[in-house]
Amino acid sequence: MAFPGTGKIWMNGKLVEWKDATIHIASHVVHYGSSVFEGARCYATPKGSACFRLDAHMRRLQMSGKIYRMEYPLDLAGWRDAVLETIRANEMKSCYIRPLLYRGYDSLGVNPLACPVDAAIMLWDWGAYLGKEALAEGCDVQIASWSRIAPNTLPAMAKSAANYANSALIKMEAIGDGYSEAIALDVYGNVSEGSGQNVFVVRDGVLYTPSLGSSILAGITRDCIMTLARDLGYTVNETVVPREALYIADEVFFVGTAAEVTPVRSIDKMKVGNGRRGPVTEALQRAFFDVINGDVPDTHGWLTYVYADEAPLRKERPAVGASRS
Ligand SMILES: Cc1ncc(COP(=O)(O)O)c(C=O)c1O
Repeated sequence: MAFPGTGKIWMNGKLVEWKDATIHIASHVVHYGSSVFEGARCYATPKGSACFRLDAHMRRLQMSGKIYRMEYPLDLAGWRDAVLETIRANEMKSCYIRPLLYRGYDSLGVNPLACPVDAAIMLWDWGAYLGKEALAEGCDVQIASWSRIAPNTLPAMAKSAANYANSALIKMEAIGDGYSEAIALDVYGNVSEGSGQNVFVVRDGVLYTPSLGSSILAGITRDCIMTLARDLGYTVNETVVPREALYIADEVFFVGTAAEVTPVRSIDKMKVGNGRRGPVTEALQRAFFDVINGDVPDTHGWLTYVYADEAPLRKERPAVGASRS
């Protein structure tokens, strides 16, 4: 279904109607994939709408821009205010947040430096990325035949549109083969990540996740899950994860802003554990959703409230672990 459009888009500091938020076909980004972007979420919590890890996302946007030599005259506080202003202008209670920096209209050719760095922030409603049922039931995935981008080709730590050409190949192959997602390996054959999520493996009560050297995006949800797991007393190892560790894992799960915390129940048609969401995944899902639902104190300072004077909202999201098992 085409985008229904959700009101106003922030473009270089101006709020523009959705239908008018266009760029020229000769913009550099259209031809050469020269953009970096973010994906964050705003949740409706009982204390009001709150963006999750907003500063971490906007900092990563700045870092991605730095890698690609894209300078933009907003500091972290400026980005934070621009996002909050856009949510308020659209009067949204919860939404997916997509800020981006892109090379605009000046001249064409591989060299982007002459082209302006433009920025936009758009919002839309985005539910459970891999399907609502997948949060409780888990998803079936395959190992992608495509490798993730090799070190020193495209920088995996930059969340750049160009990287998503690789993600799209992984995703299209998975869908064509009847899966909802895939796990890609790095060029050395070790586990990297999904097309748009990081991966965790659980074995004998210990968590493992590929380290930054395995061509992954340094996911903000990954960081949260490592923190919450350690809070719960689990050992977490960021390390090289061989492919076969997936097949003998007790539990495997995806994490990401879009996917949140989604169990993987089979890989290459082999059951993961007993083929159901496992206890560690469930405990971490519960801990994660408790934070974003506002059910526990925000001890890590991960929530940025949007509306200063908002009356407490009705709780809209169920606690996934509790109600869907
Ligand atoms: C390739 C890739 N890996 C991992 C992630 C998870 O990152 P985050 O938790 O910051 O959303 C994403 C989502 O943006 C992604 O696109």
